[in-house]
Amino acid sequence: MIIEPRTRGFICLTAHPKGCEQNVLNQINYIKTKGAIDGPKKVLVIGASTGFGLASRITSAFGSEAATIGVFLEKPPTPGRPASAGWYNTVAFENKAHEAGLYAKSINGDAFSNEIRAKTIDLIKKDLGQIDLVIYSLASPVRVHPETGTKYKSVLKPIDRSFSNKTVDFHTGKVSEISIEPATGDDIENTVTVMGGDDWQLWIDALKKEALLAPQFQTIAYSYIGPKLTEPVYRKGTIGRAKDHLEATAFKITDTLKDINGKAYVSVNKALVTQASSAIPVIPLYISLLYKIMKEKEIHEGCIEQIQRLFKERLYTGKQIDTDPEGRIRIDDWEMREDVQAAIKELWENATTETLPSIGDLQGYHTDFFNLFGFKVPGVDYDQDVDEMLEIPELQ
Ligand code: NAD
Ligand code: NA
Repeated sequence: MIIEPRTRGFICLTAHPKGCEQNVLNQINYIKTKGAIDGPKKVLVIGASTGFGLASRITSAFGSEAATIGVFLEKPPTPGRPASAGWYNTVAFENKAHEAGLYAKSINGDAFSNEIRAKTIDLIKKDLGQIDLVIYSLASPVRVHPETGTKYKSVLKPIDRSFSNKTVDFHTGKVSEISIEPATGDDIENTVTVMGGDDWQLWIDALKKEALLAPQFQTIAYSYIGPKLTEPVYRKGTIGRAKDHLEATAFKITDTLKDINGKAYVSVNKALVTQASSAIPVIPLYISLLYKIMKEKEIHEGCIEQIQRLFKERLYTGKQIDTDPEGRIRIDDWEMREDVQAAIKELWENATTETLPSIGDLQGYHTDFFNLFGFKVPGVDYDQDVDEMLEIPELQ
């Protein structure tokens, strides 16, 4: 079929298999040009199909020849209806990994469920024995609790008082003022339940109980901090409480790994266009200014550049891992540079519908958004008929 983008608000309902494949190939090539990493050999990635999780899987496999198991929640294709992007990303990843002689198998289902956890554990037991790295990279608006069956929803709201600021509709380029009402009722607890560290801990506890964690095992979850500008809706909002909980959970997990000399870390990553971040108000305007400044200063990175740096310059240096005073690994260091933030602050004041196309990188935002779904990818012929019914070769 011929597949075209069909967007509804912050999501795109279609995805292009060739474009997704090209994105994955580009990431693999990037990792290959950066050279070998003396890294992990057996890796579980939870949230492995898009964004930072996919980049982590690619970096493990093609940077350090790791066997990888990927867990994710993606929509398979049906005749005439393309799969979701993460499905096609995984098809391309597995094909390339297998060609390179690397073990790569995948599990599609709800990572918050006991069923998928058990299935993953069985697969590790059968095929890998013990693993040396778990990347925890889920971004989800809902979580069904595995014991009670209660469904929790996370929200993106400020706490205590409403927050007003500028935002941009990245489809139209219209800059407007928005006001977000503060969290009410159980909003904070619910968001912490979905995006905090509870599920991460359940995974590591379950793997540990089955003796599936190798000596010196490490596990990494991803967090975000960002500037003062976005604090009310991000770091000091409901999602920030969840990130506080995730960061605190790293210490709790580390405590449980003492006997195998294992460690849990949170890595604070840069703001990037992903399916998760386009849904947060104010952030798209911030990202479009951030991209402009970071590209001008030649320090712009995407997910793959970020994770390559995380592995090569933080996790697998052969030396002690560098952290901030709160124990977090920082690869948002270039985003948070004083000169970068000062420049954004100034641009922010002047950002209007009229000025944004020149003072911000709205075009870059727009392209990155479509790229997530395999559209507007250089080198792909979108007039060609493509097979939407691709299978993931080693889907369990
Ligand atoms: P993403 O939307 O690209 O990836 C989310 C992944 O989780 C996908 O693989 C998806 O299939 C999987 N997933 C979602 N719900 C699932 C479920 N119930 N069961 C199994 N898999 C499920 O998001 P991302 O931006 O890569 O985010 C990953 C992590 O990185 C999040 O913790 C996010 O907060 C963090 N982070 C993101 C940014 C950013 O700017 N995007 C910055 C710093 C940190
Ligand atoms: Na991810």
